[in-house]
Amino acid sequence: MHHHNPRLFHSLALLLLLPCVISIDPLFSICSSSDDCSVSQTFKHNLNKLMYTLANRAPAIGFGLESVGEGHNQVNGLVLCRGDLKNVACSTCIRAAEAHVRKLCPFEKEATIWFDGCLFRYSNNKFFGELDNSKEFCMTNTLNVSVNSMAFNMKVTELMHRLALAAHLSPLLYATGEMEIGESEKLHGLVQCTRDLSGGDCKKCLENAISELPSCSYGKQGGRLMDGSCNIRYELYPFFDA
Ligand SMILES: *[C@@H]1O[C@H](CO)[C@@H](O)[C@H](O)[C@H]1NC(C)=O
Repeated sequence: MHHHNPRLFHSLALLLLLPCVISIDPLFSICSSSDDCSVSQTFKHNLNKLMYTLANRAPAIGFGLESVGEGHNQVNGLVLCRGDLKNVACSTCIRAAEAHVRKLCPFEKEATIWFDGCLFRYSNNKFFGELDNSKEFCMTNTLNVSVNSMAFNMKVTELMHRLALAAHLSPLLYATGEMEIGESEKLHGLVQCTRDLSGGDCKKCLENAISELPSCSYGKQGGRLMDGSCNIRYELYPFFDA
């Protein structure tokens, strides 16, 4: 998938993945030139150097911010691995992101690519520390809930608010949790912000995502909303390592 429209709200069918299996295909990507000039050789060289540096440094802590070059040719990049991923899985995801940047957006000044296990962004603009919810997209589990959708949705919202509260106060800006619903079912939730955000902006980002979630996945057994600075997800099965 390749989109030039920066403001997106898509509903994509999500295959039921087995718990803890990380797909190395991108969920979604946006490549967009921020002006009409095509990128220079220097920019491409800087982008390659940036990806190389991030792939080396980020896996150990699950996050990386780097800038390479100056002026028009500066490339700023960010990677964020899902909070439960260990070094190797994080590294694998970043390498996959690198490969997709080379394939999908080699002549673009900005790109954002989401995977199951990581987010990769780069831009000629220095976006670090800025809350970006201009690129959101939505995915849902294909299965409908079998119970009252409105009651289910209230539980989802309650869990997400609880996790957003915990995440914005935690150093990793990440939280997971569970909630019993009915007698035998459990909701599993995950929220995460990019670590260049302040706690306050993380909370804003997550609250915005939570408010968009019903129009994304109302009545579905699972849903996720991703944007440039944070993402949230719930399912009726465990999809992360505790
Ligand atoms: C899920 O619910 C929608 C809306 O109520 C309905 O149109 C659709 O057929 C349902 N899908 C399944 C698989 O039951």
